[in-house]
Amino acid sequence: MPADLIQAAREARDRAIAPYSRFKVGAALELAGGTIVAGCNIENATYGLTICAERVAIFKALSEGHRDFLRIAIVADTVQPTPPCGACRQVLWEFAGNLEIVLANLEHETGRHRLADLLPLPFDQRLLR
Ligand code: THU
Repeated sequence: MPADLIQAAREARDRAIAPYSRFKVGAALELAGGTIVAGCNIENATYGLTICAERVAIFKALSEGHRDFLRIAIVADTVQPTPPCGACRQVLWEFAGNLEIVLANLEHETGRHRLADLLPLPFDQRLLR
């Protein structure tokens, strides 16, 4: 399944709207039933309103009623792995918990992680009670 997921992230990356950074990213979330929901980064001339591929993917999935996430593949055209930014880690943690994260470039997989390892000591709703 990671191969299909990575392929979906690569295809989403082709739809990235990144005229300012020219750094295109694709992300694909695998749901518990096997469905894949993908997203790409979408930039804005104000820069700060840019949204990363990972958040586009998870907000798409959430808005369609999905809640059970297994893993996410993230693809960029880099030799080094491109991991999710801090904001995306926080959002993924909120809605997907200890997700498996599969990193890849246009040729091959570049790494696998658990979100808890990338976001140690997270702030979350447990602290608000
Ligand atoms: N970006 C993502 O979409 N995901 C990442 O994991 C890293 C960064 C986007 C945001 C911006 O459009 C561009 O890549 C450069 O930071």
